[in-house]
Amino acid sequence: MRAQIAVLGGDGIGPEVAREGAAVLRAVARAGGHAFELVEALVGGAAIDATGAPLPPATLDLCRASDAILFGAIGGPRWGPAAPVRPEQGLLALRKELGLFANLRPVTVDPRLAAASPLKPELLVGVDMIVVRELTGGIYFGEKRRTETTAYDACTYSVEEIERVVRVAGRLARARRRRITSVDKANVLETSRLWREVAERVIRSEFPDCRLEHQLVDSCAMQLVRRPADFDVVVTENMFGDILTDEASVLAGSIGLLPSASLGAGRLGLYEPIHGSAPDIAGRGIANPYGTIMSVALLLRHSLGLEAEAAAVERAVGAAVAAGVLTADLGGAARTEEAGAAVVRELAAARG
Ligand code: NAD
Ligand code: IPM
Ligand code: MN
Repeated sequence: MRAQIAVLGGDGIGPEVAREGAAVLRAVARAGGHAFELVEALVGGAAIDATGAPLPPATLDLCRASDAILFGAIGGPRWGPAAPVRPEQGLLALRKELGLFANLRPVTVDPRLAAASPLKPELLVGVDMIVVRELTGGIYFGEKRRTETTAYDACTYSVEEIERVVRVAGRLARARRRRITSVDKANVLETSRLWREVAERVIRSEFPDCRLEHQLVDSCAMQLVRRPADFDVVVTENMFGDILTDEASVLAGSIGLLPSASLGAGRLGLYEPIHGSAPDIAGRGIANPYGTIMSVALLLRHSLGLEAEAAAVERAVGAAVAAGVLTADLGGAARTEEAGAAVVRELAAARG
């Protein structure tokens, strides 16, 4: 098949891991006879330095005209958080402009990496969840105001915004263990009371074959490390999903392992690891590229409909891990480039 894929490396380790993701895309194209056109563009701090804006119009146009977007990471100490123009605004604008309201963040534990997690290995057996994070609403996008002595961030959700993301969770649950945990703070927040009402109605009426449970976010944060294997599909609002998935990455062994897919109403999606630009290790060639490469698998699955290729990439990452090709965050000594090359090699080996 033919596809145009925008590659936005961004800042810090973003370009380092995106390069390995792009190499895997090229390997998949070669093997399957696909014509993937990869087009690089500026975003984040790199775009601020070059153009003054974190999401230049040319980048947004490219993304709109593409079939999928592979994204590295943005941000860094040079641009904020007090700066008037910040890299993070570029990513938020991209999500909003493209209507990418559902952010899928799968969390699984490779038993061979159980030792990389500070949790007891017996707690990690059978961990297989997917967090569906609402991505274009809530406190991230509400009105912001500042006076001399106060600051204000409004959190709003409409019925429709909640319905559509809960439906994504319902459809995912049907292909899994049919258990949905909706996470809110309904004991305090009005938006959460609406969230709970809508989740209840949508799941009961449209997905009666799925089991729905509500959890308060503070308690959920605790249950995630106490009994993580009990979770199947978790659906929650923007900020809670952001925080809970960094916590959940500790189950997998490193934040460098977790991928994500940001989806809207159509096929276009944005695929990125959940981690940031990691300024503490940027430029050293030691970042873990597996979360980005697993995001490439999600891109193949959700935007290009290439399920066999997606599964092959996921197996190849598993095989690279099994072969002991681990970066420093997982206790190994492999460099970013070596880990990426190991996945490309495993892909070829699997084809025989
Ligand atoms: P971070 O995720 O960048 O890093 C947290 C810790 O995890 C660091 O110790 C880092 O070295 C480590 N880490 C992260 N990714 C890794 C990888 N692939 N391999 C090995 N180790 C890895 O979070 P932070 O330090 O709080 O944020 C840094 C910047 O990134 C901030 O500007 C923030 O706004 C931005 N950020 C961007 C995104 C994104 O682009 N989607 C996501 C999160 C944070
Ligand atoms: C993420 C990041 C972003 C978010 C930041 C960089 C705006 O933390 O993708 O998880 O909060 O959504
Ligand atoms: Mn985050």
